[in-house]
Amino acid sequence: MSLVDLDKIDANDDRKDRYHTDKCCGFHNYIRLLYAGAFDPIRDRVTHVLELGVREGYSHALWRDFFTLATVYGVDTDISLFKATQDTTRITLIQGNAADRGIVDHFNGVQFDIIIDDASHIVAEQVAAFNNLHKLLKPGGHYYIEDIQPQDLVDATLTPIDELRKALPESIIVHDLRDVHKIPDNVIVEYVHGIQI
Ligand SMILES: C[S@@+](CC[C@H](N)C(=O)[O-])C[C@H]1O[C@@H](n2cnc3c(N)ncnc32)[C@H](O)[C@@H]1O
Repeated sequence: MSLVDLDKIDANDDRKDRYHTDKCCGFHNYIRLLYAGAFDPIRDRVTHVLELGVREGYSHALWRDFFTLATVYGVDTDISLFKATQDTTRITLIQGNAADRGIVDHFNGVQFDIIIDDASHIVAEQVAAFNNLHKLLKPGGHYYIEDIQPQDLVDATLTPIDELRKALPESIIVHDLRDVHKIPDNVIVEYVHGIQI
């Protein structure tokens, strides 16, 4: 199954429930708009994926099933929401705050191909998590920050895209996908480790 095929799964297919992440069909559509193009070609080469923000574990199950060789790590401040019915094969869950410096100590030197931040969506925490974790990327590894809010959730006078541009390396790419489905936070920031653009 390619990622793009997920859009074609019909309501009777049990994968609709297993991969019920809002990255998929019907809401943010990040799979179709961005991740399919980036991840389909490297599907069988990726060995380590980290996604911040687990909740029920839908996206972790999707990455585990899609990346045939990968161990998928998840960090969440509350891992009790992870669905007991989810298969935990090749999934490692860590209870913790991605914005806390100590979070790196949980990974014992693992290097990641892909890190996705789908946790708090608060700029200050996105920046803190990035500063803590981007150095765990392999050279050429990708870091994605999802759901950049139209306004700072804490200080409404600030625009998060500008804040992220100031706080993160100049080489970040802003994927502004808001016009496609008129979803106000359909913006992903991408950073490629060690590559200057
Ligand atoms: C949008 S949900 C994740 C959804 C999941 N990635 C998916 O697509 O199915 C966000 C999760 O992030 C967690 N979270 C919020 N702030 C966090 C933080 N600072 N560190 C780690 N997890 C956090 C919340 O507890 C919540 O479970």
